[in-house]
Amino acid sequence: MEYFLRCIECGNIYHDDLIYTCSKCNGLLEVLFDYSEVEFKLDGKDIWVWKYRDLLPVRIDPITLREGGTPLYNVKRIAEKSGISRVYVKHEGLNPSGSFKDRGMTVGITKAVELKMRAVICASTGNTSASMAMYAARANIKAIVILPARKVAAGKLAQALMHQARVIAIKGNFDRALEIVRDLSLKRKFYLLNSINPFRLEGQKTIAYEIVDELGHSPDAIFVPVGNAGNISAIFKGFVELKELGFIDELPKMIGVQAQGANPIYKAYVEGKESIEPLKNPETIATAIRIGNPVNAKKALRAVYKSKGMVIQVSDDEIVEAQKMLAKEGIGVEPASAASVAGLLKDSLDFNLEEVVCIATGNLLKDPDEVISISGKPVEVEATINSIEKLL
Ligand code: F0G
Repeated sequence: MEYFLRCIECGNIYHDDLIYTCSKCNGLLEVLFDYSEVEFKLDGKDIWVWKYRDLLPVRIDPITLREGGTPLYNVKRIAEKSGISRVYVKHEGLNPSGSFKDRGMTVGITKAVELKMRAVICASTGNTSASMAMYAARANIKAIVILPARKVAAGKLAQALMHQARVIAIKGNFDRALEIVRDLSLKRKFYLLNSINPFRLEGQKTIAYEIVDELGHSPDAIFVPVGNAGNISAIFKGFVELKELGFIDELPKMIGVQAQGANPIYKAYVEGKESIEPLKNPETIATAIRIGNPVNAKKALRAVYKSKGMVIQVSDDEIVEAQKMLAKEGIGVEPASAASVAGLLKDSLDFNLEEVVCIATGNLLKDPDEVISISGKPVEVEATINSIEKLL
């Protein structure tokens, strides 16, 4: 298929794939396509990322672990609590590495192989590194991960280490780690797989395709946890493409949800701004979205404004409460993932919504320490029927 890169700021066009930002104005890039080659149908069948290959910008066979095709659960109790008729949760925690990042990595790693890169690199709050390590292993290329020391959940760190990434923990936060990998990728020709990479985001837009493929239409709104702000931008792009292709008539409202302690996009939205003021010391229980200087802020804010959506902030307590509500519906997620539902349950919503989808971004097993700290430990007793019966 034919595609090219375009700067979202100055409109400059690139046909070279090995570029991350506009060389004229440093703006973010996006991938644009020739739609005449789109042949897939949204018939609800055989749903997974590479079903939509006509709109995925790679020229070789994909490096894949069968990502996407995640379930869309109808959550009646959460719907009742929110007062919205139909609430669905798309459980991205059921991807191969346990988060939505796999959608981006299958495309990003395929691109790295296509470009004959010898190593890939990322900064991460955990999930990106777990996913990149897994797909790099699949492709048999080197992976380098820079992450904030002691701020990455155990499950994610275990994945990156087991899949043999070179893991380096810095005495600094995610934002600093991202600055470092951006510099290193230019200096040492490591392929950068953070969400500033426009090809990676192309994989993540398939969340939008899958929702419409399964429901047969577009819902009224999509709630998305926001950290580095790539995912909400990618999902919005997916809906815009579906509208341009005539698959849907209306765009859903994009509703971004940030943790109160890591909320630069929320602040910009409240002030009606197009860009953010970086936050120096972000802090939240949802370590996945503990980010003060999100690189995709401009794309995300545009998505919110263009779709007439909004940005909401939620407290750590609200995140934990939503995480427990999801668990009671049989959906196990890590704290950042529950931000979408926490946002839905906030009464700051002043729209009339009938059908919404909340994106649950990562699996419960990613952060076992947080889960045990909020759920409590098991009771220990003597190994006798009697002592157990006493407890029951
Ligand atoms: N939810 C989870 C579970 C995440 O891991 C992330 C991002 C987000 C939400 C936010 O997505 O950055 O596209 O706005 N995690 C990144 C990482 C930063 O390094 O794993 P975003």
